[in-house]
Amino acid sequence: MTESPTVQRPLDHHGGPRLRGLGAPPEPRADKGRFRWLIDGLKPLELPDATLTALAATMVDESGGGGWSGQPTAADNPALPAGYTYLAQFVDHDITFDSTSRLDRVDDAEAVSNFRTPRFDLDSIYGGGPKASPYLYNNNDQALLLIDGAPAGPRLAGLDLPRNSQERALIGDPRNDVHVIISQLHLAFVAFHNAVVSHVRSNPALRWGDESEFQTACRLVRWHYQWIVLHDLLPRIVGPETVEAVLTRTGKRYKAGLKLYNLRFKAPYIPIEFSAAAYRFGHSLVRDSYVLNSSNPSPLPLFSADAGGTDLRGFRRLPEPLRIEWERFFPGLDGAPVSPGTPASGTLQPSMRLDGRLAPSLTHPPVDVDEQRRSIALLNLFRGQALGLPGGQDFANAVGRKVGESVHVLTSDELGQPGPVPLWFYLLREAEVLGEGARLGPVGARVVAEVLIGLAMDDPSSLLQDDTGWTPVLPSATAGQFTIADLLRFAGAGPA
Ligand code: HEM
Repeated sequence: MTESPTVQRPLDHHGGPRLRGLGAPPEPRADKGRFRWLIDGLKPLELPDATLTALAATMVDESGGGGWSGQPTAADNPALPAGYTYLAQFVDHDITFDSTSRLDRVDDAEAVSNFRTPRFDLDSIYGGGPKASPYLYNNNDQALLLIDGAPAGPRLAGLDLPRNSQERALIGDPRNDVHVIISQLHLAFVAFHNAVVSHVRSNPALRWGDESEFQTACRLVRWHYQWIVLHDLLPRIVGPETVEAVLTRTGKRYKAGLKLYNLRFKAPYIPIEFSAAAYRFGHSLVRDSYVLNSSNPSPLPLFSADAGGTDLRGFRRLPEPLRIEWERFFPGLDGAPVSPGTPASGTLQPSMRLDGRLAPSLTHPPVDVDEQRRSIALLNLFRGQALGLPGGQDFANAVGRKVGESVHVLTSDELGQPGPVPLWFYLLREAEVLGEGARLGPVGARVVAEVLIGLAMDDPSSLLQDDTGWTPVLPSATAGQFTIADLLRFAGAGPA
């Protein structure tokens, strides 16, 4: 029988399965994802192509998008260290993938397939498990994921993902190879899994019931990752008060106050407004260039305008000069405790402000991203229209009605645009005007918080369905907490 990387239910004190009341855990792949509307029945916004094209052309960061000089400029967002941009992208690639992404009209947006399971199950890392996706695993020890030529528990710096003869990474989601920051983050999760396997082998008491070492490791990896999404990433993006308004914990059980995401479907789904607009907030956080390591202090562009230029593009073996020092991307790699308030400073680079502007790198992505090298802003605006998204103002009003709170609907002056505007653009301007460019505004924040928390509530194998009062068990800077810096350090990153 195929050994599944899915979370096994623990046994109760008597050796029987502890019922979580939500059925068996899903098989990745078999559990095909769905898209649905978060708010049904809103009128699609239809703007002339020329209007969308002109709007996309305004969405470029005229300051040049910034290399990091060590001193924040008005275009920087020091509240959000640069690595969180890519943790957010990594999370996106775990839960949603519309591989049909076409810019022409889609008649039924709910019929578009999501090629990822809409769960925080790391199917981008585990694929279908060692039997269904053997190329992801180490033949000599199938509990371990494959790292290029390295044994378990390596120091991370300079290692690469395993690749085929044409340098394509052998990973569960090709998008995690689009640039070296995300491919190295993917590698860190692979190394984290392997380090957790070793830890389980030395601490057999971590195994629940008849879990294999591999299944225990997968559960621990996923629950620590879910903890990071809920306690480290989400508060930084939406603000701690929005997380607290949507998720509470009483005793050992979590409770979600969801007004938008619908648990009645009894299967997690990705809302179209989330994947086509709200969660694309991350495009605005991308810096134009990054310093990766101390040997190479000049910032390198993410994507150079010149197709042959030196940049951070992926889909190739990691060039040695592009070795990543994670302490330049996340706080806490030195082992000091961090909180969602810890800002970027010194060599720790910030993200760009959340606003209606994108780094120049995203105006000419490589052909592997878009054959015609069209700007990401243009792709987002046309995609939103093809899927029939409502206008931003209509959506904001509808969210206010559903949540039962009055919302500040941005005026044309605040938007800097007349008439109804596309939802993605609206939510970015909301972040700029009402979130001070540091985090999402109230509508965007509520949507992102409800969807991420709703997805975790809807998954019987997730941390939020645990009723044992589980808290992180791996070593961390603050006992009972776990941040992305703790994960990276456990995986072998950080100052030697
Ligand atoms: C750094 C470079 C990035 C590049 C080159 C990139 C590129 C793209 C492209 C080409 C698309 C498809 C556009 C279309 O609809 O045709 C896309 C979709 C998307 N991106 Fe990004 N992106 C980047 C970063 C991010 C970040 C940081 C986030 C979030 C935090 C993000 C979130 C999304 C989401 C939610 C979608 C829709 C996903 C789906 O349902 O398939 N992206 N991106």
